[in-house]
Amino acid sequence: MRSHYCGELNESHVGAELALCGWVHRRRDHGGVIFLDLRDREGIAQVVFDPDTPESFAIAEQVRNEYVIRIAGRVRSRPQGTVNPDMSTGKVEVLGRELEILNAADTTPIPVDEYVEAGEDIRLRYRYIDLRRPEMAERMRFRSRLTRAVRGYLDEHGFLETETPLLTRATPEGARDYLVPSRIHPSRFFALPQSPQLFKQILMVAGLDRYYQIARCFRDEDLRADRQPEFTQIDVEMSFVGEEQVMSAMEGLIRQVFAETIQVELGPFARMSHAEALRRYGSDKPDLRVDLEFVDLAELMREVDFKVFREPARRDGCRVAALRVPGGAALSRKQIDDYTDFVRKRGAGGLAWIKLNNAALGREGLQSPIVKFMDDQTIQGLLEASAAESGDIIFFGADKVAVVNESLGALRLRVARDLGLAQEGWKPLWVVDFPMFETAGDGSLTPLHHPFTAPSCSVGELREKPLEALSRAYDMVLNGVELGGGSIRISQSDMQQVVFELLGIGAEEAQRKFGFLLSALRYGCPPHGGIAFGLDRLAMLLCGANSIRDVIPFPKTQSASCPLTAAPGEVSAAQLRELHIRPRPPQA
Ligand code: AMO
Ligand code: AMP
Repeated sequence: MRSHYCGELNESHVGAELALCGWVHRRRDHGGVIFLDLRDREGIAQVVFDPDTPESFAIAEQVRNEYVIRIAGRVRSRPQGTVNPDMSTGKVEVLGRELEILNAADTTPIPVDEYVEAGEDIRLRYRYIDLRRPEMAERMRFRSRLTRAVRGYLDEHGFLETETPLLTRATPEGARDYLVPSRIHPSRFFALPQSPQLFKQILMVAGLDRYYQIARCFRDEDLRADRQPEFTQIDVEMSFVGEEQVMSAMEGLIRQVFAETIQVELGPFARMSHAEALRRYGSDKPDLRVDLEFVDLAELMREVDFKVFREPARRDGCRVAALRVPGGAALSRKQIDDYTDFVRKRGAGGLAWIKLNNAALGREGLQSPIVKFMDDQTIQGLLEASAAESGDIIFFGADKVAVVNESLGALRLRVARDLGLAQEGWKPLWVVDFPMFETAGDGSLTPLHHPFTAPSCSVGELREKPLEALSRAYDMVLNGVELGGGSIRISQSDMQQVVFELLGIGAEEAQRKFGFLLSALRYGCPPHGGIAFGLDRLAMLLCGANSIRDVIPFPKTQSASCPLTAAPGEVSAAQLRELHIRPRPPQA
């Protein structure tokens, strides 16, 4: 039906006779002539109809926005003064000869415009219209280029693209499972994979050596801007490797992807231990574009009169930290109050602060609700420790370590954004040396990654001091986003059993749930390791989108539903009977 895409027209086509198909983006009636902006996947071209072709002109008068049409005509240069430098096709237009309406369209519920402010629900309900918006169409095309670049690199480097089942058993990655009832096996359920973790390890036992998959994963967890219940991983596993080989191969992947998709040569990848990341930035995925760092003050605050600082300074598991913000003395009372609310929402008890209006004046040059609680020596000490200068503000967090890290860590990013303190560009980072376990509220151990992650110590040491054990895991962090995480795996059955034990999974339960893995480890398992990247997060970063929902064609809402199809939906009583399921009405 067509000879060209609208978006590909340029001066080289001047004089050509061609046919275009697409949607009427805009129609302008200038008295004697009608201009149609015709849009397809690749872009927009201007088509002009004049009364010299009376039949087409009459049809052009009838078309409305989003009508689907086919035109034929001749490309010409736009007259002087009508060139549109904002359009890639802006130097040319098509003088229309034929016009055929292929389909009419009702007035759309959201405008197909680059700057829609429509609510998310309506955008998702009419996603097929939302995806017509040039910005969204470009993101979909980008995503395709991105997966092509990923496949290109992995294929070149000897990775075999291999599928793993979606109907499977639970793989623990820390979220709830989506379950699928079995009709044939009453009261039995498949779980949709939270990741292909176990299958990819088993593929290593099978000898595939290097695996990858662009894999859909399912996790029933609380959603945020960078989390979806159904998302995509670039999932990778390698045999006969240690962490250095996995990390360097994956650095190569991300470098090549950046170079091919956005023509950016990434700088060196920083490397930092988990402990250092928390100490300096209060985060296990620090945004290194922001230079602000925490300063620990517990030593200094053990004897102060100010209870808010003294108590946590003396207690185990607590932290007193300062965050110096250059130029922050100019913040208004209202801004500080906003920041106080901001940290309170993240668990902090409050937000103490000191403004350094004039460092030369000592105590007199400070403005703060808390300096009255401190002697001159303490004040001197904290100003020195934080290296504060005139014009700065120092914020303080004093609480349990996790609360200080979470609240002051988030404040660090917020203030940097508000005051324009973040650098431009890309700051990739490997976070390494994670602890194997952390303690849950009830004192039980939970894995920081997943239970298949190898420790960097012996079985004996792990048993003896599990909370001190580090793992052979690594996370790739980019501009404050956890892009991917992986590890060298446990390849010995006895080590795997000890880890299960420490996690409170008894021998019998381990056998029942993971017996297939434990036996695979006994039949010749190579040392192996891998990683998985969040493809949606990578696409989001590369496109400069704010949410992964903007780079997923059909995402779920914040409440894990699909407005387009109204899923999840009800099913018939007959279907439920077949599945041996009797739903319980929701409790009031
Ligand atoms: P992990 O659970 O860290 O590791 O997941 C790997 C990466 O997947 C992305 N991701 C998500 N993206 C969108 N929505 C979600 N709900 C979501 N959850 C995770 C993140 C994350 O870094 N099997 C291991 C990998 C391995 O050890 O090889 C795993 O799944 O970008
Ligand atoms: P208060 O003595 O409770 O009035 O607190 C004095 C100052 O300390 C106020 O600016 C509070 O916002 C701040 N503050 C209170 N609790 C904390 C905390 N846990 N960490 C940091 N600052 C706090």
